[in-house]
Amino acid sequence: MPPSQPSNSSFPAINGARYAAITGWGKCLPPAVLSNADLATFIDTDDDWITSRTGMKERRVAHVQCTDMAHIAALRALAAAGRTAQDLDLIIFGSCTGDTVVPTCASRVQDLLGAKGIASLDLNTACTSGLYALSVASSMIKTGSAKRVLVIGAEKPSALMDWTNRNVAVLFGDGAAALIVEGSEQEQGLMAESLGCYAEARDSLAVHNYGTAYTNMCPTSITSWDFDGQDIFKRAVKGMVKASHDVLNKLNLGVEDIDTLVPHQANSRIIDAVGKKLGVPADKVFVNVERYGNMSAATVMIALCEAIEEGKVKPGANILLPAFGAGLTWNSHFIRWGERVEPLGYSDAELPACKKTALEIIAPRLEAQRKHAQSEQASSDKTDNQQQNKNNKPVEELA
Ligand SMILES: CC(C)(COP(=O)(O)OP(=O)(O)OC[C@H]1O[C@@H](n2cnc3c(N)ncnc32)[C@H](O)[C@@H]1OP(=O)(O)O)[C@@H](O)C(=O)NCCC(=O)NCCS
Repeated sequence: MPPSQPSNSSFPAINGARYAAITGWGKCLPPAVLSNADLATFIDTDDDWITSRTGMKERRVAHVQCTDMAHIAALRALAAAGRTAQDLDLIIFGSCTGDTVVPTCASRVQDLLGAKGIASLDLNTACTSGLYALSVASSMIKTGSAKRVLVIGAEKPSALMDWTNRNVAVLFGDGAAALIVEGSEQEQGLMAESLGCYAEARDSLAVHNYGTAYTNMCPTSITSWDFDGQDIFKRAVKGMVKASHDVLNKLNLGVEDIDTLVPHQANSRIIDAVGKKLGVPADKVFVNVERYGNMSAATVMIALCEAIEEGKVKPGANILLPAFGAGLTWNSHFIRWGERVEPLGYSDAELPACKKTALEIIAPRLEAQRKHAQSEQASSDKTDNQQQNKNNKPVEELA
């Protein structure tokens, strides 16, 4: 006989909130700026190429750990929500470049905040991690598993960059952002999302020598990137447009209902293509890619913070947040903003002062990568010479 199921009345009902409102927001950008001109000092590139192909002018390089930036962003978001760390019951740390895998990065932010005993977790869907974290937070609030959640999108791609590879070195930057999400009975917050992944194209963006598959093979300072920019470009546009249509259909809304489009900032040409294919006028599209490059999971969340700061999010605004990342993951989130667009308070928390330039921060890693490339080249030349010598020998000597 199958075991008897508990009747519906066996357990008390745990009620979640109807909506999950975003009540606080905060960002943290490390101060060291790496300009296009800086990049041109050590790789074969120039400002013209980078600006015309990507829209990027500069990006930031962190002198601290990824979780340090997340901590400052979190304090600013808490202040904006008028809350303290003691009001939280969950932290979700969205990132693919956290300082450690074991222990979790969320636990370091939790420890720095002094939020003792609450739940915390790391979530990695690459560039979409911050928004996937928002989905998890909102769902858990609606099921009653959590009441008030700190959602983080934080990245330090500079730490696993191959600085000798111009295809990728110009594209990424460091930064962090945080949102406070809490239960509400008012119709606001994440109203719906569309999530997906083109897993068949996962090799289009891969970082080698990063992860347990590579353990004992190579020092992790020597990463190499597989990066098919054009494939990612096409799939990014397709995925973000599809997800945006899906989420609008779910909500029975049209493109005309979008007040502000805050897309992933990986390339101004991708942003233009998504805006045009969706039919969203350019003046409704928020762009800050020129200032920071692609900060992966932090990108859309920082863009959202800046859209609010710049008065581009009005009370009750409908905001669409499409993004994509390695995997290749994609999403589009539809947010109904609340009535408040001003922070309730400000935090004076700051990162420790940075005494180095961006070029000085990346110099040791660049040097190690150059040396590695030279030794690889030397051993490949040696193999070629040996082969050449063999080929020059009479056949009878090789037999
Ligand atoms: C990477 C990207 C900017 C390249 O732009 P593109 O127009 O596709 O350029 P191409 O790949 O056709 O490269 C054109 C040429 O520029 C060269 N090039 C690449 N990077 C360069 C750089 N930093 N400086 C100068 N030249 C560069 C290439 O080597 C290529 O030269 P070749 O024609 O002699 O082979 C673009 O494809 C892109 O943004 N893709 C999406 C990537 C992304 O966002 N990934 C993150 C996922 S979250």
